[in-house]
Amino acid sequence: MGRRPIIAGNWKLNPDSVEQARELADAVAEGDVGEVDVVLIPPAVFIAQVRQAVAGAGVAVGAQNMHPAANGAFTGEVSGSMLRSLGCAYVVCGHSERRGVFGETSEFVGEKVAAALQVGLTPILCCGETRSQRDGGSATAVVAQQLRDGLAALDAEAAARCVLAYEPVWAIGTGLTATPQQAEETHAFIRHWLVERFDRETAETIRIQYGGSVKPHNAAELLAQPNIDGALVGGASLKAESFLAIVGCASRS
Ligand code: 13P
Repeated sequence: MGRRPIIAGNWKLNPDSVEQARELADAVAEGDVGEVDVVLIPPAVFIAQVRQAVAGAGVAVGAQNMHPAANGAFTGEVSGSMLRSLGCAYVVCGHSERRGVFGETSEFVGEKVAAALQVGLTPILCCGETRSQRDGGSATAVVAQQLRDGLAALDAEAAARCVLAYEPVWAIGTGLTATPQQAEETHAFIRHWLVERFDRETAETIRIQYGGSVKPHNAAELLAQPNIDGALVGGASLKAESFLAIVGCASRS
């Protein structure tokens, strides 16, 4: 049986107000999600409202980040169980902006992935190389290291409950999408890596999203690739129309 497509909208630091967040979530909830897992990933402060807006619409809600600890002296942080209590089902771990701008290490990301699973959240573990790493020929080595650390604590059963997202850093917010062939090549590499690290069945179960300038005009071709099981959408998820158009492409893939 094929893997069910998963399209997630990472709103990053948008929109400006809870009213606007509610409006965007309402508009997505009115769309047709078909046989696709659809996830909205707003800033943490909007999660409760967004969750309310999409209740009953077949749309799940995720968080952009979490802290691995359950409680404690971690000012400004949010725990997995707090997110669960808001009705969150997913959490992004190790987005390149967390790694690059906020200095998160792969080991720390691995702690988040393990903690997320423990409270029943599905981690969306991100990986991806920078332009200079790709040009220097180390793209797959970088991705493999991020996966090795990100999934370090997991056995096959736990790994099967994760979603992965390959997001080449040079394609994020730049309009420079990886070509479907470039993306598929790395996704196939990741699938093979998962076979070696776990086993074939686990590797075939795990969904791997592509992220990086996914738009309605390029989504169909990306999603048609055999190892691309969905998309993690940034900019195009801030308009219901373009986000739903991408969901529609996944429905037909
Ligand atoms: P863009 O779609 O804006 O390139 O962002 C991708 C991304 O980082 C999603 O997590």
